[in-house]
Amino acid sequence: MPVTREPFGTTREGKAVSVYTLKNGRGIEVRVIDYGGIIVSLRAPDRAGRLADIVLGFDSLADYERSSPYFGSLIGRYGNRIAGGRFTLDSKTYTLARNNGPNHLHGGLKGFDKVVWDVTPFERGLVLRYTSPDGEEGYPGTLRATVTYTLTDQNELIFDYEASTDRATPVNLTQHSYFNLAGDGRRDVLAHVVTLYADRFTPVDSTLIPTGEIASVGGTPFDFRTPTAIGARINQDDAQLRRGRGYDHNFVLDKSGGAGPTLAARVEESSSGRVMEIYTTEPGLQFYSGNFLDGTLRGKGGVVYGQRFGFCMETQHFPDSPNHSAFPSTILRPGEQYRSRTIYRFGVAP
Ligand code: BGC
Repeated sequence: MPVTREPFGTTREGKAVSVYTLKNGRGIEVRVIDYGGIIVSLRAPDRAGRLADIVLGFDSLADYERSSPYFGSLIGRYGNRIAGGRFTLDSKTYTLARNNGPNHLHGGLKGFDKVVWDVTPFERGLVLRYTSPDGEEGYPGTLRATVTYTLTDQNELIFDYEASTDRATPVNLTQHSYFNLAGDGRRDVLAHVVTLYADRFTPVDSTLIPTGEIASVGGTPFDFRTPTAIGARINQDDAQLRRGRGYDHNFVLDKSGGAGPTLAARVEESSSGRVMEIYTTEPGLQFYSGNFLDGTLRGKGGVVYGQRFGFCMETQHFPDSPNHSAFPSTILRPGEQYRSRTIYRFGVAP
């Protein structure tokens, strides 16, 4: 179905923002704005075919600009944290914005979530382009990023990330939608049942930077290898859960076989029957259980978002990789092409 476009307000800097609506032949509707590439709504059917909005967000652009915890946004240049906002690359030390305690988070003060992307619609989706200038938020090199959102008739929302640079730079792009599969973000997500295809995770220090250890999930509340409710163990007396105030950790995905996307996670919500599967080419997945939501944000339709009213499944390379040579590299060099694909597939349980 053709993509439609309507106005969605004007940024504080005076730029006009548009909202694009994608629909497939099976009732799914996704609305995206060019500011931050934000998915402002995603309507998906429950087991009776009733549509509801399964992502958190705001009604107005001003709310997204003022106080959004990255609701629905594209994240760049670097998803998650870089310790002390500092890294050394080819013997040169770079200093980034510190926007999360002592650390750099999600690309800095004005990351890819807060810029207006250049959007070109096509029949089944959108191509979003942004050129990040050399030195932006402290990063080296001009980075040309292209992200394609495609909605298929198989109820998949596909994200294709590409980037190239003229100087070596870290790159780790992701999408930060908060889901509540029960619809309309009206209650917590603790009863959602999660499966993560990960034997290991990266434990963190008190500022949520990986310690460098790659730990087995076995015998810990991080073992989601069999389907388990988010809330089943979230309040256990566990040092890692205390640090994240719940789940806010990078899982090391089981990767075997080809280079194509593999199943990383499955989430099921029993009252609606909605199911979501996440496939990715990335080696990691940040499972964030919305712990820092605290009832101070009023979202779409005036709904107050309390703690753990949404969860994120951010496909990515590991946090702070530029400071951990044992982690898969996130450095993109001139002449190389960054490519990454993630698929969210929506369905219902029988
Ligand atoms: C981080 C959280 C952070 C959240 C919103 C997640 O990706 O891991 O620590 O609070 O994003 O900023």
